[in-house]
Amino acid sequence: MTFNANTILTATVFAFTMTSVYGAAFRRTCYTAGTVGNECAQFVNNFCSRLEGNVAFRNNLARCYNTPNFKCDFGAFYEFPLTSGSTSPATPAKGSCVDTLTNVTNTCGGFGGFGNTAGGAFTFTLDPNQGQCGQLEAPGN
Ligand SMILES: *[C@@H]1O[C@H](CO)[C@@H](O)[C@H](O)[C@H]1NC(C)=O
Repeated sequence: MTFNANTILTATVFAFTMTSVYGAAFRRTCYTAGTVGNECAQFVNNFCSRLEGNVAFRNNLARCYNTPNFKCDFGAFYEFPLTSGSTSPATPAKGSCVDTLTNVTNTCGGFGGFGNTAGGAFTFTLDPNQGQCGQLEAPGN
């Protein structure tokens, strides 16, 4: 990425947008079947704090964490245009990630789920699954 004045402007506008969405209403959907993995909650802060770099529209950043008995799949999916209407590459908002996934871990009975903060461009997912990272991959599950 070329770091120029336009990049800085874009980053500034996006940072301002992020501060205005935290803590607002969620869109949040819980999974209602599958692996119950309350232990996945311990990885929320690590996943959200490591969201770096730009993501193309409709692409995602994903990370998997192992527990002794199952794995925790995390994702940040650039699903909606930015508040400006732009679909330019963007970085997921860490605070939106924490707010959304904390809600999921507190309210979804361990099944995981997905959602976003109001106006948030990124949808954040937490999905406990059988197996360990790199095994039994089931995209879209
Ligand atoms: C979680 O999100 C739902 C859906 O927006 C909301 O109704 C609920 O109040 C939130 N719960 C917590 C604990 O933040």
